[in-house]
Amino acid sequence: MAGLVMNEKMRLGIIGGGLMGREAASAFGRWFVLENFPVQAELVAVCDLQDKLLEWFRGVPTVKLFTRDHQELLRSSDVDVVYVAVPHNLHERMYLDVLRAGKDLLAEKPFGIDLKAACIIADAVKRSGRFVRCSSEFPFLPGAQRVVQAVRSGKLGRLMEIRSGFWHSSDMDPSKPVNWKRQNATNGEIGVMGDLGMHVVHIPFRLGWKPLRVYAQLQKIYTQRPDGKGGFAPCDTWDNAMLHTEVSVGGEEVPMRLEMKRLAPGEMNTWFLEALGTEGGVRFSTKDPKTLWVFERGKEQIWQRIEIGHQMPFPTITGGIFEVGFPDCFLQMWAAFTAERAGALGEKFRCATVEEAVSSHKLFAAALESHASKRVVVLR
Ligand SMILES: NC(=O)c1ccc[n+]([C@@H]2O[C@H](COP(=O)([O-])OP(=O)(O)OC[C@H]3O[C@@H](n4cnc5c(N)ncnc54)[C@H](O)[C@@H]3O)[C@@H](O)[C@H]2O)c1
Repeated sequence: MAGLVMNEKMRLGIIGGGLMGREAASAFGRWFVLENFPVQAELVAVCDLQDKLLEWFRGVPTVKLFTRDHQELLRSSDVDVVYVAVPHNLHERMYLDVLRAGKDLLAEKPFGIDLKAACIIADAVKRSGRFVRCSSEFPFLPGAQRVVQAVRSGKLGRLMEIRSGFWHSSDMDPSKPVNWKRQNATNGEIGVMGDLGMHVVHIPFRLGWKPLRVYAQLQKIYTQRPDGKGGFAPCDTWDNAMLHTEVSVGGEEVPMRLEMKRLAPGEMNTWFLEALGTEGGVRFSTKDPKTLWVFERGKEQIWQRIEIGHQMPFPTITGGIFEVGFPDCFLQMWAAFTAERAGALGEKFRCATVEEAVSSHKLFAAALESHASKRVVVLR
């Protein structure tokens, strides 16, 4: 996109101004760091049920519409694109409302509370003709992009094993109060898979690694948590999920293990991906965000540790030697959404598609079936 100048404006509305809604506001607030980016982004409207959050958004100078009613936001002719970041039980209704209002959508994962909801949304997207993508930002980290490049280079030889995972640890604390993400009614029966799963499958799916079959190990570790009012509330979601799958690569079946954990000792938002082949291997984890591990089988077998800096898919003013973090990859995801919507993405990595989001739900539904039956489930 070198040489392009800012000539178009994308006006945004946010429904759900909680953890992620405010993160999105932060990305739009420093949009100018993107170099030679063809589209400007401006946050103009926000909807949340909580007054204290609406109050927070009053500190964002471009926001003109503050509402508790998402339909009011959707009626606004000033909004082109909507980011919806609400509990999973509200995804279907809100996403359908956005499409009916004729707006484009960046939908938060897991794209509906279950497979049925995801299929209904996907059908509505098709009928609407709107531009819709699903949120998943970690692939936009430089280390993750280097893993993608290494796999696509073909230099790994015959692939032997793939591992992709996302680990959290705050639920190790039994005194952590319950919230909507810990209850089936609001988070979904898929539990931690709905919470962390899209992050784990985005790159594998994009590389063509779609599970042929799955054997799932799901665990409920804490079944109740403090309700914040002196008592306890049920915590009925799956806490940890290990999905043992096989994928077909170059006509060979390759084991791929997908790990999603809320109770992974000491792991604070650790996202990782590794692929091991007969000739080479590659490994990246946000635990060590400047490090890319690259294996080469020569006369000797060598794991090389490469220091990586701020080499983002969409260049910014930040110096190449500086470290990357969560707000950086979140901004990059939005840049990818915006560039693709404007027809200017080129060869760059794109956001998770509707088809990929529905495929993730098919895998999670099969995982529930596998765990319940203690059998391997074939994916069609
Ligand atoms: N991409 C990521 O890395 C990432 C990280 C965390 C969460 N998420 C996803 O983002 C979504 C939201 O999660 P969160 O952590 O921001 O949750 P949150 O609880 O912090 O925020 C949700 C917000 O939605 C608001 N809300 C609820 N009902 C509403 C309604 N009817 N109208 C308007 N607002 C309403 C709540 O008041 C709350 O502020 C979920 O889909 C979650 O899976 C994504």
